[in-house]
Amino acid sequence: MIFSLKKQLTVWAIGLLTLVGLIAGGISYMLAQTGVGMFLDHQLLLVAGSVDEGSQLPAMQAKFLRENQQEQQYGFVIQVSIAKEAVRSSRPDFDLPIGKASGYSDQMFQREKWRTYTIVYPDRTVQVSQADAVRREIASDAALFASLPIAGLLPLCWILIAIGVGRILKPLADVTLAVTLRDASSLTPISAKNIPAEAAPLITEINGLLLRIHESIESQRHFVLDAAHELRTPLAALQLQIDNLSQSRSPEDLDARIAELRSGMQRAAHIVGQLLKMARYEVQSESVRCQTDLSELVKCCISAFIPVAEKSGIDLGMVRDDKANILANADDLRILVGNLLDNAIRYTQEGGRIDVAVEVSGNKVCVSIVDNGPGIPDDHLPRVFDRFFRVGSHKAEGSGIGLAIVNAIAKRENAEVKLANRQGVNGLIATVSFSLSECRQTG
Ligand SMILES: Nc1ncnc2c1ncn2[C@@H]1O[C@H](COP(=O)(O)OP(=O)(O)OP(=O)(O)O)[C@@H](O)[C@H]1O
Ligand SMILES: [Mg+2]
Repeated sequence: MIFSLKKQLTVWAIGLLTLVGLIAGGISYMLAQTGVGMFLDHQLLLVAGSVDEGSQLPAMQAKFLRENQQEQQYGFVIQVSIAKEAVRSSRPDFDLPIGKASGYSDQMFQREKWRTYTIVYPDRTVQVSQADAVRREIASDAALFASLPIAGLLPLCWILIAIGVGRILKPLADVTLAVTLRDASSLTPISAKNIPAEAAPLITEINGLLLRIHESIESQRHFVLDAAHELRTPLAALQLQIDNLSQSRSPEDLDARIAELRSGMQRAAHIVGQLLKMARYEVQSESVRCQTDLSELVKCCISAFIPVAEKSGIDLGMVRDDKANILANADDLRILVGNLLDNAIRYTQEGGRIDVAVEVSGNKVCVSIVDNGPGIPDDHLPRVFDRFFRVGSHKAEGSGIGLAIVNAIAKRENAEVKLANRQGVNGLIATVSFSLSECRQTG
């Protein structure tokens, strides 16, 4: 699922801020209400304390009657009761029962709740009352005023958050735009300038990937160029041989020229076959593996090469065949061993000898192919696995891809391949070792 980071961040930040704002507003509201309640209580106390035996109450009554309804509602009602005398009140219709003890109390009168403060003196009792509804209204107004700034600031904060998130994510948007506007062939690294630390590893990885793609494209390009170059010579030779056919002087001469043409065709076909294998092993990274009897597989390969070896009078045989089952792709292994045997036969002189062995030692199983041919000059050994590399001194012709294929297969099969000249005598030792910890040995 694709979601917008900007939208998520904005929604979360605005949501959290609104929640905090509402809680803060609610708390301010409640605190303001409590504060105003305490303040009004204190006012009751002050008013009650300032009232004398009640001589000013008739004047207050007259003032009350002159006031409009709203003003009448808001005021305090003061009552004074002097021992054995009727209660005197600042409001004519108000005769709330006078409390017996000093202090605050809540009373119901004319279906309304009243908050009162009573002071009991030895000669008189003074009681000041205020309607609870009035008190609540005053408190609510004050509370609303207290929470008004928060309510007013919230929308401003929402706008600031939206702008802030946009600014924070702008470098990412810039990178996206830069990648979108990129030419398909451009593999230059993406600039990580001003990129947030959290996104930097992603850019680094993408740049690494771009570099690998660049290297891979370069390698493919070289491969195609080399392949075209390698094919040019045999194809030119074929062209020449075809032209020559018409100039043959006798049927024998024609047969000889056709044989030459056939071998040229075989060589071109061999190069194309090697190129195809190489391309396949470079592209495929995974192979299907199954338990494979390595000795049996090597024996099969040897029998396939016996006729070629016999043609050159080469003694090709197996000198050791330890049993080892390994987890591998048998087809790949056949191509690997086949290329090494092909080399050994091709580069060993007539009447030579090639000994093949499958040997288990410790947790390794080794296939070794030892010939008594000329070997490879030590300074060329590190390069023989390069594509199209051939040691110039040999008469036998090859495309120079065989060992590159061997190397690619060995990598895929987690095997190690080594070439070394024999010590003291002529010849080359090619070894391919597989780790038995990954495989299962039997026998
Ligand atoms: N057993 C060997 N003895 C001597 N030289 C060898 C031996 N194996 C390989 N070489 C040298 O290494 C070079 C590279 O071998 P590689 O198998 O990659 O290519 P190739 O044999 O020339 O062509 P291809 O195998 O593609 O037909 C060969 O040209 C040859 O000179
Ligand atoms: Mg070869």
